[in-house]
Amino acid sequence: MRTKNRILELLEQRRGESISGEQLAGQLGISRNAVWKAVKELQKDGYQIAAVTNRGYCLCEENDILSIPGIKPFLSEKCQRYADRMQIYSLLESTNKTAKELAVAGAAHGTVVISDCQTAGRGRYSRDFFSPSGGLYLSIVLRPEGLHFENPTTVTAFAAVAVCEAIESICRVTPQIKWVNDIFIDGKKECGILTEAVTDFESGGLDWVVLGIGINVSIRPEEFPANLQAMATSLFPDGKMPGVRNKLAAEIINRILGFETCPAEAEIFEKYKKRLMVLGKEITVIQNQTQYQATAVDVDAAGHLIVKNEGGEMIALYSGEIRI
Ligand code: BTN
Repeated sequence: MRTKNRILELLEQRRGESISGEQLAGQLGISRNAVWKAVKELQKDGYQIAAVTNRGYCLCEENDILSIPGIKPFLSEKCQRYADRMQIYSLLESTNKTAKELAVAGAAHGTVVISDCQTAGRGRYSRDFFSPSGGLYLSIVLRPEGLHFENPTTVTAFAAVAVCEAIESICRVTPQIKWVNDIFIDGKKECGILTEAVTDFESGGLDWVVLGIGINVSIRPEEFPANLQAMATSLFPDGKMPGVRNKLAAEIINRILGFETCPAEAEIFEKYKKRLMVLGKEITVIQNQTQYQATAVDVDAAGHLIVKNEGGEMIALYSGEIRI
């Protein structure tokens, strides 16, 4: 690993604290002059590193540049190996598009693609996903040898719960889930998840899945397009970037790739159901260009939303969309 990345890892581990040049040099077995040169290079790359006489170097709390050395210190032991399968960009058309290309070319389970912004971010039903700088756009390649569920759609609920828990571990908010996998805070959408999969025609089993997660981190309300302003929100709506994106990315990766044994589907749906914001509510179900009113009643063991229509009939929703 290059010296500047090793220095960045050490500064990231103690973000906001000063570490002396001597200590950094000692830990890495290099000269203080080499430390100084690496810090200068990092500053040139845009890292806010304060150099204070007699105290050393300090990575500012606000620094929010996405990087592998920035994410790695927060990865669990089990997930350290995925740092080598990570690709980080300042700009991409879509992290899902890049991850799918990598998957087709044979990328391993746990390949992660992250971008600071996207020029053609995609949502469900081929909709645009607003993706300016100030968000976290992340796609993970999953293969059945690494993560396997009896029912392939469980991966969607698994991801939604993982993202909610990751957000909760960093910010003082309680994210909720709007079926299928939109994440809401205070009644507004703050994250969307797009799962795309390819099945093996011969076996009928899943070949790979690309799990795409888009989180609004510090987009101010007025920055959203007019048609989204009433329904979208950010983790930090005042726009202040408190340097959380690397940690947030790591917390998501830890939950999606870092389990010891593949979590039981019943356990996932139990957690999913607890966060579901629609149960007991009147909703509009939108399916195949038709709409009807219903009440959301339950989620079954396979993740179907059970709704009761106006005629009292119970219907299990496999796909589609709902409006609250
Ligand atoms: C939705 O709300 O309909 C799903 C949005 C998913 C957006 C994420 S951002 C990262 C990844 N790349 C994309 O182009 N889409 C997903």
